[in-house]
Amino acid sequence: MKLTVVGTGYVGLVSGACFAELGNDVICVDIDQEKIAGLKDGVMPIYEPGLKEIVDRNYEHGNLKFTTSLEAGVKESDIIFIAVGTPSQEDGGADLSAVKAVAQDIAQYINGYKIVIDKSTVPVGTGDWVEELIEQQQEADYDFDVVSCPEFLREGSAVADTMHPDRVIIGTESKKAADILDELHQPFEAPILHTDRYSAEMIKYAANAFLATKISFINEIANICERTGGDVAEVAKGIGTDHRISDKFLRAGVGFGGACFPKDTKAITKTAQERGYDFKVVNSVVEANKLQKQTLVKKLKREVPNLAGQTISVLGLAFKPNTDDMREAPSRTIIKQLLEAGAQVKAYDPIAMEEAQGIFADDIQYCKNAYDAIEDTAAVILVTEWDEFQDLDLDRVAELLTNPIFIDGRNCYDVEEMKKRGFTYYSVGRPAVNNRELAATQEVATTE
Ligand code: UDX
Repeated sequence: MKLTVVGTGYVGLVSGACFAELGNDVICVDIDQEKIAGLKDGVMPIYEPGLKEIVDRNYEHGNLKFTTSLEAGVKESDIIFIAVGTPSQEDGGADLSAVKAVAQDIAQYINGYKIVIDKSTVPVGTGDWVEELIEQQQEADYDFDVVSCPEFLREGSAVADTMHPDRVIIGTESKKAADILDELHQPFEAPILHTDRYSAEMIKYAANAFLATKISFINEIANICERTGGDVAEVAKGIGTDHRISDKFLRAGVGFGGACFPKDTKAITKTAQERGYDFKVVNSVVEANKLQKQTLVKKLKREVPNLAGQTISVLGLAFKPNTDDMREAPSRTIIKQLLEAGAQVKAYDPIAMEEAQGIFADDIQYCKNAYDAIEDTAAVILVTEWDEFQDLDLDRVAELLTNPIFIDGRNCYDVEEMKKRGFTYYSVGRPAVNNRELAATQEVATTE
């Protein structure tokens, strides 16, 4: 089939490349000339495992094209995906100006029956005004359908998620569009759910809000475990074996970040509020997540009450492993807290260093590896659970630190192991190990 994907961000570029990989003719359109020129030269605008291979292969093969011309994209394809950004506005609502601009262009260049698909995460009802806008602004009277097909890919595993989705949602009342889209999605071999457009739009928000709720829920259980005793990982395993709950998305940590959960949880509460409804559960999820991002520095302050003049190492800057994305990353809150308290920061991330320089500029020191970051610092805070941090030589880490204080925001290490190696070790929802207190008690015991 002939497809156009407008927007070459995570959703657009990955979807476009995957549809091309499945044998379709795909045109990817973006207004950013530099991005398009880069893509033609094999330069990926995002870091995503496996993406470059399929982009290069299909581009060379000629069934994946890149252009800044939406006119060509609209005229040459039968199916047009709108996959542009819908960033948060100050009031928490989604900024839909890019969606509107694309809809206007589609109206201008439409030259026959088209299926226009909203792939971006857009508030319920967006499909209605996209349809109205095209209807009103097109000069001729071409038939078209506006369909909502939300995307559920995760960054870091975007290609695999797109190729093997849990389900495909097709939100339309048009049988013609539904049949064509059924055929387009057959090769994914995933269940296809047909529904109305409003429900499809809501499914995306409800899915993200629900997953975010699981994370905030387990983070709060972790905070309570720290006060009562118990181990949150054991609790997660214990509740996760109940099929109604499932053990997925129950890893306690330093709070969720990224381009989707923070934005979409705020957007759904805003939509509810505009309709006169207070979405209490998700409001609390947002609030709990904000507080969770602050917990690591609070733990650090128990050991180093005055951070002024101290140097602290931060391991991991991306909001999660296998991406260089730092949007709403917990590392940003943590580094801000440290700097405000007068500390200096030495940081390292395997992929996100360039991204970080654009954010922190000269405010922090950028290191070439984890050991370099840890050397001569008063404590280390681990924020992102990259594989390479799980294999650190812990004896070397202890030696490099001026104090063996380790604050682990992702429960990467075994508590007993850290205790044995002499660390003062705080993780999330597990017993804290304070070897310094232990040493003090032992001294008292010996003296007595
Ligand atoms: C998410 C959704 O998973 C995806 O379906 C949607 O399309 C976009 O938003 P993404 O933001 O790429 O994807 O990452 P995800 O792996 O879901 O993680 C989101 C955040 O939650 C990360 O900050 C991660 O560290 C955190 N998280 C996830 C936890 O803290 N605990 C968990 O158990 C799972």
